[in-house]
Parts: sequence; C-alpha cells; structure tokens
Amino acid sequence: MDASREHWSGRLGFTLAAVGSAVGLGNMWRFSYMAAENGGAAFVFLYVVMTLVVGLPVMLAELTLGRGAGKSPIQALAHFGGERWKWLGGLFVATGFVILAYYSVIAGWTFRYSLESMVSGFPSDAGAHFEAIASGWPALCWHLGFMAVTTLVVSGGIRSGIERASLVLMPLLAIIVVGLAIYATTLEGASAGYAYYFETDFSAIWNTAVLRDAAGQAFFSLSLGMGAILTYASYLDRSTDLPAESITIALSDFGVAFLAGLVVFPLIFALGLEADVGASTMGALFITLPKAFAEMGGAGTFIGVSFFLALWVGGLTSAISLLEVVVSSVIDATGTTRRRAALVCGSAIALLGVPAAFSLEVLGLMDQIGGNLFLIVGGLALSVFVGWIMPDALGEAGSNSKLAGLLIGWKLLLRFVVPAILATVLWFTLRDTWNLINETFAG
Ligand code: TRP
Repeated sequence: MDASREHWSGRLGFTLAAVGSAVGLGNMWRFSYMAAENGGAAFVFLYVVMTLVVGLPVMLAELTLGRGAGKSPIQALAHFGGERWKWLGGLFVATGFVILAYYSVIAGWTFRYSLESMVSGFPSDAGAHFEAIASGWPALCWHLGFMAVTTLVVSGGIRSGIERASLVLMPLLAIIVVGLAIYATTLEGASAGYAYYFETDFSAIWNTAVLRDAAGQAFFSLSLGMGAILTYASYLDRSTDLPAESITIALSDFGVAFLAGLVVFPLIFALGLEADVGASTMGALFITLPKAFAEMGGAGTFIGVSFFLALWVGGLTSAISLLEVVVSSVIDATGTTRRRAALVCGSAIALLGVPAAFSLEVLGLMDQIGGNLFLIVGGLALSVFVGWIMPDALGEAGSNSKLAGLLIGWKLLLRFVVPAILATVLWFTLRDTWNLINETFAG
C-alpha cells in the first residue's frame, strides 16, 4: 500500500464519512417522493428487499475493491482488471459529475428555505414560492454557493476536510431527524400518515415500475454504482472489518430514510394535504411541507427550519463524497495538488449545473440519466468485476472480519443474483430514460 496516500484517522472517521455520503437528499427528498409516487408501503417493502439483496453485496464489492487497490476508481479497476476496465472508472467519474451538478441545485433550495424561513417564516403560497425560486438566477446563486462550500471541504483533504465536517454534521443531522420524528407522533391526525406509509398493497409489488424505482433508489441512497464508497474505502487500512462496515452503513442509511418517512407522511396527512401527494413530483417536498409548516404557525417555522437544515446538512456530506470521486481521480491521474484539483473540478461541475438551475425538466433528466441509469450500469459492471474478475476478492473482503464465514453467500449473490436483477432493472430503466428524453425534447 502507498504510504504517502492519505488515511482516515480511525474507524469512526471512515464510518461517519461513509454514512454521511449515503445519508442525503436521497433519504428525505427522493425517498419520500418515490414512496408517494409508487403507492407508499409497497415501494418501501421492495426498497428494503433491494437494499438487502442488491445494495449490501454491491456495497461490500465497492469496499473490497477500494481498500484492496488503495487507489481512486480508474486506477483501482486497472490495478485488478488491466487497461480494458478503465472505462468503468471513467463512467464513475462522469456519473459523479452529472449527479453533483443537479444535486447541488436541490441542496441550494434546501439551504435557501431554511435561511429564508428563519427570517420570515414559511410563505402561505408555497407553490408559487417554489416556482419562483426553483429555477432561474436565484437558483443559480444558491447552487454556486453550495458548490463553493463543497469544494472548500474537499480541498481540505481526508482528515482535516471530509472527516472533520462529518464529525460535526452527522450527529447534528441524527439529532434533528430523531427529534422531528418524535414531534410528528404528537400531531393530531398523524395516524393517517402512518397508515399510508405502512399499508402494503401487495399487488403493487409485481409492478415493474415500482421494482425499477426501488432498485434505483436503493443505489442512489446507498451511494452505490459510481465509486463513492470505493473511493472512501481506498483511504482505509487493512484492519477494518469490511462486511461489518457495509452493514453499519446500510442500516444507518435505511434508518434515516425510514425516519424521514415518519416525519413527512404524518405532517402531510395531519394537515390534510394528501391530495398533493397523489400529484407528487420532484417539487412535492418543497411545496407540500412548507404548506404544512406555514399552517402550523410559530412551531411550524421552528420545525420547518430544522427540517430543511437537516436536508442541507445531509446534502453537503453527500456532495462531498461525489466531488471526492472526481477529485481523487484527477489527483491520481495528473499528480496535481488536491487544492487545485478541487478548485478545477468543483468549478467544472458548478458550470454543468447551470442548465439544471434554469430548468426543472433538465434537472429531472439529469437525475434519470446520472442518478438512475448510470448507477445501474455501474453497479452491474461492478458486480461482474468483483464477482468474476478481481483476484481473491473473497480473501480481501474477509480479511480481519468476524463475518468472513458468510462471504460465500456474498460471492454467489454477486456473481449470479445481483447481475440478473440489475440487468432486468436496466432494461426497464433504459426504456424509461429513452421515453423521458423524447418527452423532454418534444415539449
Ligand atoms: N446517497 C446520497 C443521497 O442519498 C447521494 C449520493 C452521494 C450519491 N454520493 C453518491 C448517489 C454516489 C449516488 C452515488 O442523497
């Protein structure tokens, strides 16, 4: 292993950073709008299945590859697979570019919402407000501000940038989300929200669209399929128990998504805003919830500011991991300094985000392509790589692990089950992406 390469200060630093990567806008914004769009509990059920059967094995595959090579994605793939696997690393970097570009626009909204509402409360006409701020020059400014903060943290490096930010931000996020979920139980009428969230209409489980969304969401939420976890694992030393880490990360991620549902659905139903849920779009969380907060008066402002602040905090630690994939790849490829790499990559991504800041349609399309299609392709190729090509993946994954005995099952999943499921999901995702491209450019 390269002794000059940066390392985490210890296990806690890595775990918090990786959980910080996983927990983000995906858990609160994307999870609840996907759940609402796909009929609540059926989606949640499939999402859990996908997390366990596909997410966990791919998570361990990324950890194994990253720590085994001790390099950024492109070099890590070349290390074990030779030159002809470099394209996959290239796809990872491209995916990081696309996701972060629009992710930052959304994170910009969340920060704006929390600051603005601290000063003037939530506007009663939430729909018009969202429309006014979601796209255009203001959206662009908040996007650029968010990218600046992200770039600053990443240019600080592993220990004094990423690790330090996670150490402060992750506990803060956990406190806010748990607090909000407890508060939500006290709302009159919350039970209708819980009912919507938990009542499984099992027929929806056979709906391929729900399956596809659940798989895509599991990948997005766990930060899989583009080398983010791989990159973080490349700064680990061999004493870490990788299978145990993968379980910790996945459980924490699921925990926060689940808790966010316990906040969002009671709020919406307690205030009788469920009609808005049926018409769910990407903006739902940014319209329906502020409506609820506005109706709740003073308490609503406090709750709402906390909610959007938590979203922003989660978004920041995730954005950091997305940028780190790109930055570490550029450092490894060119030998330039971290600071310069962060500045150049951060600026380029900020630029790519400009179209997303001006059009919700473009933003949605980038989410479909980067946040869905590319992740599924990346996850599929990665499971084949670690399952079939990487030498002694089993030994690397199980070294220093209490769970090494279970890893035969992991290898089997990775070789057969995961590729089969992902190939099926890919088929549907390709079809939908194609339709969305046509819609976007026809309209
Ligand atoms: N997982 C994050 C979220 O849920 C987003 C994210 C960070 C991500 N890094 C990623 C998504 C890498 C896909 C790939 O908000």
